[in-house]
Amino acid sequence: MDRNPLLAVDDLKVHFPVGGGLIRRAGTAVRAVDGVSFSVPRGTTFGIVGESGSGKTTTALAVMRLVQHTGGQIRLGDSDIGNAAGETLRRERRRFQMVFQDPFASLNPRRRVGDAVRDALDLMQVGEPRGRAARVRELLAAVGLRPEQHALFPHQFSGGQRQRIVLARALAAHPELLVCDEPVSALDVAIQAQILNLMQRLQRELNLTYLFISHDLGVVRHMCDRVAVMYLGVIVEMADRTRLFERPLHPYTLALWSAAPSFDPRQRGRGRRIQLTGDPPSPLSVPRGCRFAGRCPAAEPACSEAEPPLTEVSPGHWVRCRRVRVEGGVPQPVIMP
Ligand SMILES: Nc1ncnc2c1ncn2[C@@H]1O[C@H](COP(=O)(O)OP(=O)(O)OP(=O)(O)O)[C@@H](O)[C@H]1O
Ligand SMILES: [Mg+2]
Repeated sequence: MDRNPLLAVDDLKVHFPVGGGLIRRAGTAVRAVDGVSFSVPRGTTFGIVGESGSGKTTTALAVMRLVQHTGGQIRLGDSDIGNAAGETLRRERRRFQMVFQDPFASLNPRRRVGDAVRDALDLMQVGEPRGRAARVRELLAAVGLRPEQHALFPHQFSGGQRQRIVLARALAAHPELLVCDEPVSALDVAIQAQILNLMQRLQRELNLTYLFISHDLGVVRHMCDRVAVMYLGVIVEMADRTRLFERPLHPYTLALWSAAPSFDPRQRGRGRRIQLTGDPPSPLSVPRGCRFAGRCPAAEPACSEAEPPLTEVSPGHWVRCRRVRVEGGVPQPVIMP
């Protein structure tokens, strides 16, 4: 693993207390993120995939310091952003910005888009005030908009163009990390490709680092250098893109891959179709042992006894399953019954 990652998340936990006031009972919490560790080298893209409710957005919001984490460390370069507060946190915030799914919701409908970008420069005190108008033009050009479009309102743009504006605003303060939560999910497929290509170009030109969340495996495969699969608040498998897509090991990853309509059959769980039945358990009552055992076609009684650790089974490939065996140095995917 990279010794000097830009982003390093260690044992991150976000537990939401249940109920309020008198009905709040000690020890009852939604364990949305329950001990997540990963690191992202500068200039690369780290993807997080997983079913709805697995804790992807909560992880992103905790990294952004928009949701208070209840445990663990978050470091950005040399800076302990997980424990930063007040003026220090405000200063550090320039370095990490977020792009959400719905560009319409994240833009003020009554603000001209040039002013929206300008507001970000003013808020984060980027450069001298008199240079900011030029910087707005530069940012709009960088995301492929024409300078005269600065005077238009968000509703005068298409969804793809609005996401370009959101990107321009996010880039205002020269951030190092962009946290992107389903950045293209609201867009038509053809437009998705344009925005993804733009994001890749910006990454190369500005040496940006992306934390990239998507439920679309095709998009993740296109964008990410390294990918983590989350299930019920924990990472169950993590590897470089090629490894993870070509040699998935965890039964849950096999099931996710096999359910993806966009994948060709050879890649679907390597020939076997694995049906996922039922819903994940609630993060309010996390089962003992392996969290996936209740839905896993390969589960044995021992799987429900203790939670398996996330183990490095080959260089850079981590998996949380006691049934994955390493034979002659090669990890073997679990044989499905
Ligand atoms: N503020 C909150 N208070 C209580 N529970 C919450 C809160 N925010 C999220 N949760 C719960 O935490 C779990 C993880 O939610 P999260 O939004 O992170 O999932 P997700 O992986 O992003 O899902 P999706 O794919 O639907 O976006 C869910 O069970 C959710 O209901
Ligand atoms: Mg989400």
